[in-house]
Amino acid sequence: MTATTQPSTIDGLAIRKDFPIFQQAPTEGRLPLVFLDSAASSQRPAVVIDAVSDFYARTNANIHRGVYQLSEQATLRYEEARHIAAQFINAANPRECIFVRNTTEAINLVASSWGRTNLNPGDRILLSVMEHHSNIVPWQMIAEERGATIDYIPLTGDQRLDLEAFDALLKNEPKLVAVTHVSNATGTINPIAEIVRKAHAAGALVLVDAAQSVPHMPVDVQALDVDFMAFSGHKMLGPMGSGILYGKREILEAMPPYMGGGSMIRKVTLEKTTFADLPARFEAGTPAVADQIGLGAAMQYLSGMGMENVRQHEIELLDYALEQLPGVPGLTAFGPEDVNERAGVISFTLGDIHAHDVSSILDSENIAVRAGHHCAQPLMHDLGVTATTRASFYVYNTKDDVDRLIAGLHKANKIFGLS
Ligand SMILES: Cc1ncc(COP(=O)(O)O)c(C=O)c1O
Repeated sequence: MTATTQPSTIDGLAIRKDFPIFQQAPTEGRLPLVFLDSAASSQRPAVVIDAVSDFYARTNANIHRGVYQLSEQATLRYEEARHIAAQFINAANPRECIFVRNTTEAINLVASSWGRTNLNPGDRILLSVMEHHSNIVPWQMIAEERGATIDYIPLTGDQRLDLEAFDALLKNEPKLVAVTHVSNATGTINPIAEIVRKAHAAGALVLVDAAQSVPHMPVDVQALDVDFMAFSGHKMLGPMGSGILYGKREILEAMPPYMGGGSMIRKVTLEKTTFADLPARFEAGTPAVADQIGLGAAMQYLSGMGMENVRQHEIELLDYALEQLPGVPGLTAFGPEDVNERAGVISFTLGDIHAHDVSSILDSENIAVRAGHHCAQPLMHDLGVTATTRASFYVYNTKDDVDRLIAGLHKANKIFGLS
């Protein structure tokens, strides 16, 4: 369970100074906030909040339409954010980065546009049992519409993808493999490069749900050779309503628009419409300009820290937490033991105490964690539970936060008479 690279230079406590939410005094009688729910939505540093507010204060105008200076400035800032995003994931061309509201929208875009054009009755799609509902439901909807079939890669006992089963399922010749890079419910990191290599050899395209990876580790779309990748800004210090669908240019160019309307056309007559080139073709209507600019600021902030460093910081917290968890009576943690195969997510049950009760007791100590099925009901079914409690780490977390979590869990046990 040891880290593989240099120690992280990130000091979670020092970083908190950049985040207004951590500067608030706790409400009376409450301890200082320990925020362990970044896998759901992270906090935002002042540079991101300022970038959004600065857009509205100084360059607010609709983009791509006005031939006046303010609109040109707004357009410039929006397109700058796209360049930053392309650099952040090493896309070959910024046009391959489509701005969307979130991961869910990105996957729905691909399922609707690519799926409606390419899936025919009898075709197969390959997903996995550990997917977030966002990477299951859109495929079920389009599969039903097109008469396609979905197969699911099963999991091993420690919640990794069963790669032998994956090899066998590829023999069904799926047209698309859609898998998560990192499970939001167990933290498992999937071997995407290997999955892509094998899927391509079997003739399938690959969509990667990177909602839990791009915020936490270096991700290079060209090195991984993924065909599509989806992620949300709000999980990576950016605004809610910001996000990216990455797609290889030639694949996106061959896809029909997802939504029709303003901004995505070349020419409209009463009889017929021709469509704009990438990326406008997939960005109908007025986009979330300020939010995407905020996402650019978040990416610059993370790049300033270095994504290797961010990953290493989380490995150190994970290592520290995993050493202590066995000391909590009744605790069962899910996911691989090796920190090199998991992200900063710890999902667990505590005896037969319901996850909501665990979460409420932790909240009484001002520790914010997630409780529930984490939008991964098939995975919960596979684990044989209805819900887990989930603690997730980010750049502003510290070993003290882990200590507070452990103490909170002992308190929960005490309240329920388990220790
Ligand atoms: C792995 C994964 N995929 C998809 C999503 C959906 O993200 P959003 O709600 O931002 O669309 C989440 C959110 O928790 C997630 O963790």
